[in-house]
Amino acid sequence: MPGSNPRFLEKAQTLPADAVFLDLEDSVAPAAKPEARKNIVAALREGDWSGKVRTVRVNDLTTMWTYRDVIEVVEGAGEFLDGIILPKVQDSTEVVWLDTLLTQIEKTMGYEVGRIGIEAQIENARGLVNVDAIAGSSKRLETLVFGPADFMASINMRTLVVGEQPPGYTEGDAYHYILMRMLMAARTHDLQVIDGPYLQIKDVEGYRRIARRAAALGFDGKWVLHPLQVEAANEVFSPAQEDYDHAELILEAYEYYTTVERRGAVMLGDEMIDEASRKMALVVAAKGRAAGLRRTTTFTP
Ligand code: GLV
Ligand code: MG
Repeated sequence: MPGSNPRFLEKAQTLPADAVFLDLEDSVAPAAKPEARKNIVAALREGDWSGKVRTVRVNDLTTMWTYRDVIEVVEGAGEFLDGIILPKVQDSTEVVWLDTLLTQIEKTMGYEVGRIGIEAQIENARGLVNVDAIAGSSKRLETLVFGPADFMASINMRTLVVGEQPPGYTEGDAYHYILMRMLMAARTHDLQVIDGPYLQIKDVEGYRRIARRAAALGFDGKWVLHPLQVEAANEVFSPAQEDYDHAELILEAYEYYTTVERRGAVMLGDEMIDEASRKMALVVAAKGRAAGLRRTTTFTP
């Protein structure tokens, strides 16, 4: 939500999104940034954000705004904030800079040191080439976020439609390498990894299609820019009922066979399950439970 628009900051509180980011970067015009900082501090302090992770996106480190963004927002509303999104991160020293600044502000203000997290947006070739070092750069880092619009501009990809395949490229998915590269770096360092925005906000089917691509690979979520996209995102990133039931069944069956019957690899219907099946099932079951799904089947030996 653009920090320059108090009406949007209010609206954001009512949407069923898991997280919100209040923006000081590209959705806010340069002349509106000082006012946007004030709006964001007030919205964090006075708003009802219960149930949502609250983050603020500051400007990137090549601008003149970053230090003032961080100081003003965190001094003004640090107790009401869960994380800072640092955009266009190109190497690990940028995250270290933010970590150090946050620590100093936390000490000055008497906040708990280290509570405020960092999300790093990967938005250009240099950021992607350095993504392993970025992912391991700070204990505060919780999430890597793909910034497809800036990224496409940075590599000269020949399309203006963010997230869609560039016309003329018929060999596969032009985003596969980028998404997979980020996913590997994130999982290596136990971070979440989130896909970026889809700008055709009226095309909810288009959103779903692009979101499914990231969800299928293992991404944890995708940004939403509009209320219409929230429902689609929640649906795409939650397991299907059938898969959730299957995952719970595997967990229960595996537990029974390994403890009661003391066998490691066993048959569940026509499927062989073992320790690796349990690990896959844990992922799907955890996502289903988090999404509030209920089991519709039970295991009988
Ligand atoms: C988001 O910041 C993007 O550039 O896609
Ligand atoms: Mg961007």
